[in-house]
Amino acid sequence: MAEVSRKRESNIVLALDFPYEKPENRQTLLEKAEKIINAVSPYVCAVKFNHHLILPLGVFDGVQKLLKKAHEKELPTIMDCKVNDIGSTNQVIAEYYYEAGFDALIANPFVGWEEGLKPVFEVAKNRRKGVIVLVYMSHKGASEGYGQTVVDAESGNKTPQYLVFAKKALKWGADGVVVGATYPEKIKEVHAVLGGKIPIYSPGVGVQGGDMEAALRAGATYLIVGRAITMAENPAEAAKRIRDTAKTFK
Ligand code: XMP
Repeated sequence: MAEVSRKRESNIVLALDFPYEKPENRQTLLEKAEKIINAVSPYVCAVKFNHHLILPLGVFDGVQKLLKKAHEKELPTIMDCKVNDIGSTNQVIAEYYYEAGFDALIANPFVGWEEGLKPVFEVAKNRRKGVIVLVYMSHKGASEGYGQTVVDAESGNKTPQYLVFAKKALKWGADGVVVGATYPEKIKEVHAVLGGKIPIYSPGVGVQGGDMEAALRAGATYLIVGRAITMAENPAEAAKRIRDTAKTFK
């Protein structure tokens, strides 16, 4: 990621998301997605997939073409599956996504380590792949879970849940964390905990209203951008504009 980001002078991760399409139109969806990867690849440093494409196209079917295309363009790929089940199930989920060709996946720390995310990190290590951990999500309701005040089991002190997750991300050897661009003050706090040891991925600029400058100045490493690019009249132009604007704040 870091290498591609340097080469392309871009810290924009494309979220390859599209609105719901009738499943019989999935060929059109596939073609649209291929076209966007071709058009925006010079301006982004990775491609993030979500269920928007996994469900209609299938991970070992249409999505294979998209993963191949992204990798041909030297773009790492992230599966935003927010792994969130018991360990044995998480392990199978991780094996399939990594086998399919994804370079990293996103996991939810609420399930904990033992019989939770530990098997995901083990699979990732064996396959030399990445795990990115949610720390604070970009939507309003994030405060109800990630924003709760909890008692830190290690220190015994009252702490916000997201700062406990940031510490766990470091301890578990995560390859990145996600903090919503809609909460720059939380990015700053998480950045202070991480001390630059792992990158912060920040979704929520554009349609969700996050402020790109505030997120980057607070310490976000990468910005995840979806609809502001995929729904733009000219996705290449939109990606270039967002990339160029982000560059001015680094
Ligand atoms: P937009 O269109 O709003 O898309 O730019 C954002 C993309 O990022 C996902 N998303 C998140 N993923 N943690 C994540 O792992 C988050 O806090 C978060 N917020 C948004 C969203 O599903 C879409 O793919």
